[in-house]
Amino acid sequence: MAESTVLELKKVTKRFGDVVAVDGLNIPSINKGEFVTFLGPSGCGKTTLLRMIGGFYYPTSGSVIMYGEEINNIPPEKRKTSMVFQNYALFPHMSVFGNIAYGLKVRKLPKEEIQQKVRRILTLVKMEGLENRKPIELSGGQQQRVALARCIVIEPEIILLDEPLSNLDASLRIMMRAEIRKIQQSLHLTVIFVTHDQEEAMSMSDRIVVMNEGKIEQIGTPTDIYEKPATLFVAGFIGFINLIKGRVESIQSDNVVVSTGVGELINNNKNINGLSIGDGVTIIVRPESVTFGKKLSKKEKNCLRGSIINYTYIGSVVRYTIDVDGLDSPFILDVPNPEGRGIFQSGENVDISLPGKFHFIKD
Ligand SMILES: Nc1ncnc2c1ncn2[C@@H]1O[C@H](COP(=O)(O)OP(=O)(O)OP(=O)(O)O)[C@@H](O)[C@H]1O
Ligand SMILES: [Mg+2]
Repeated sequence: MAESTVLELKKVTKRFGDVVAVDGLNIPSINKGEFVTFLGPSGCGKTTLLRMIGGFYYPTSGSVIMYGEEINNIPPEKRKTSMVFQNYALFPHMSVFGNIAYGLKVRKLPKEEIQQKVRRILTLVKMEGLENRKPIELSGGQQQRVALARCIVIEPEIILLDEPLSNLDASLRIMMRAEIRKIQQSLHLTVIFVTHDQEEAMSMSDRIVVMNEGKIEQIGTPTDIYEKPATLFVAGFIGFINLIKGRVESIQSDNVVVSTGVGELINNNKNINGLSIGDGVTIIVRPESVTFGKKLSKKEKNCLRGSIINYTYIGSVVRYTIDVDGLDSPFILDVPNPEGRGIFQSGENVDISLPGKFHFIKD
């Protein structure tokens, strides 16, 4: 265990009858001051895992280890964690102020200090003036902010947040992402954040744990997860992808040649771990990582030829769907809004130039 390790999970499993919600899951270390996000589709076990870390569920098997000690059966109030639940779980009979102050009162802080801390956090979550309302008199988004404030105000060592921004409107959500990140960094808090929103995960986290069916698909920085997805699931879950299936034809010291339905593609990538000639691979191409233009007379390296099927004008980008000979499904390509440069129309022939370095996943 490294000096700064706060939390480790070893082969953690949680069953509910026949349902295996979390399945032998390992996380080697979550470090002090780190912002880690559990990301995955609905039902993949995120809440169950977070509840086991908070002490609201006990694992069926495996170990939850905090500061080097197994804490499997320690109740929530004896842990150094504080959790915001997916359904907020505010105290209905208490005011906003009472809800936020609750944890500080339990800790017997002086009245003045409680006032001061609650006021500060009310400003932070933009809830000034609403401190005397009861939860039932608040909108969903306002309740969510109270829940967040109640958790943060006690400055716990580990904050567990279960989709805390899901009920906010788009602009408030983006603002709160930045606020949470700022608070976390300034207080050097360890945060475990749960979301099924990949953009939220990418924009807030130091590391992302991508989950699927109770298991981990990949743990990595947002850049790793986006640029070097370990599995097709991760690649597809984090944004749109084009897939080109192929077979490794040759391996040199600094490139790999892959034969595909669109011809030979050359990957100038020195990081050729564990590949052998003949291996089946899937090349991952993000829609924004390619360039394209009017049909060139001479075929360039890593160039695909296609014709425009249609396009969608999204505003910031134009998304083209392109028919490429030799590919099973159309190629999707994003171009930043071309403004004066014009938009290609359906039926026009284009050449698509793939990046010289691409990422692929072994079958
Ligand atoms: N108390 C329970 N009893 C029985 N099954 C449960 C219980 N809690 C969760 N499950 C099941 O365990 C699986 C994981 O549920 P969990 O709530 O952890 O998913 P999640 O990733 O948080 O999903 P969401 O994004 O929808 O909140 C699901 O199949 C769910 O139906
Ligand atoms: Mg959940």
